Amino acid sequence: MTGSRVLGTGSALPRRIVTNAELAERVDTSDEWIVARTGIRQRHIAGEGETTATLATDAARAALADAGIEADSIGLIILATATPDNTFPATATKVQAALGCQGGVAFDVAAVCSGFLYALATADSLLRTGMAKRALVIGAETFSRILDWEDRTTCVLFGDGAGAVVLEAPSGDTSADSPGIIGTRLHADGDQHDLLFVDGGPSTTQTVGHVRMRGQEVFRHAVVNLSSVLKEVLEDNGIHADQLDWVVPHQANARILDATARKLGISPDKVVVTVDRHANTSAASVPLALDVARKDGRIKAGDLVMLEAMGGGFTWGASLIRM
Ligand code: ACO
Repeated sequence: MTGSRVLGTGSALPRRIVTNAELAERVDTSDEWIVARTGIRQRHIAGEGETTATLATDAARAALADAGIEADSIGLIILATATPDNTFPATATKVQAALGCQGGVAFDVAAVCSGFLYALATADSLLRTGMAKRALVIGAETFSRILDWEDRTTCVLFGDGAGAVVLEAPSGDTSADSPGIIGTRLHADGDQHDLLFVDGGPSTTQTVGHVRMRGQEVFRHAVVNLSSVLKEVLEDNGIHADQLDWVVPHQANARILDATARKLGISPDKVVVTVDRHANTSAASVPLALDVARKDGRIKAGDLVMLEAMGGGFTWGASLIRM
């Protein structure tokens, strides 16, 4: 039976745009280097009054409006983030209060760039148990606040933003083309901790810390892990890569998107790319890109869409959805 259905999507971006040229005034880099190595041209950076919770709330409101439903019908909020407003309580509870849909379940998921995939799979599982009828699944980040702005190898790569999806519990429809989540695979490999991590935290340094990354090694693992999990989900569900209408990847680097699509024989025309405008927004990047491609009319009802992401941990995953 097909899983939970996507009723609507939404997204939010901070007001301020920072171009590569502006970054080149702060660190030893250039627009040419950043575009050639990553495909990134600009990113949105949160300003005063903008936090992970405010961006998440704006994205959630947009998703509710798109779905045409009221906040009080939401019984479950799962928010994926590595940059919560506070160590606790969960940022999801701040979103719940802002939306005014008290009484349900609200919690955060930490799986960095693949957080949205982890949150989506968790929400789908809980909706299938009858825990709630409708859920908001949100990816929201203010990564700019954990960047070392002196480190050119990381500060040029990330941006801030949020994306959200309204999910409804499976209808019980068993027809082959019924909309909903068809299959998901998630993975983690804690041995790779040191390739991508934040060098601080409440229980270690009592500081927030900064992103540290061994970029080339992350790149190699990303292409191998992402192509492997995509194959796994396709095979699980007897789908050939040609049958996909769209792939919505985590937007880390245009070269990772190209190399992964090439490995699977997926045409670049079917890959949604927003990394040029948003840079890497970690857990927000997949729902942001999904919303952009739905709102501009590319992704339509009935399309077969693959979401995929990899992030620190490492964690990675993919989810096949009939829209
Ligand atoms: N501007 C100019 N030069 C730079 C910059 C910069 N911003 N950053 C690094 N360089 C220099 C390096 O110092 C190095 O100089 P050297 O040869 O004198 O030592 C040179 O550029 C090449 O550096 P590499 O690290 O080999 O460059 P590479 O082609 O691997 O690109 C990058 C680096 C963009 C980080 C790439 O490895 C990458 O994208 N990795 C994936 C990382 C990623 O996306 N992480 C996000 C989270 S995980 C995920 O989402 C999948």
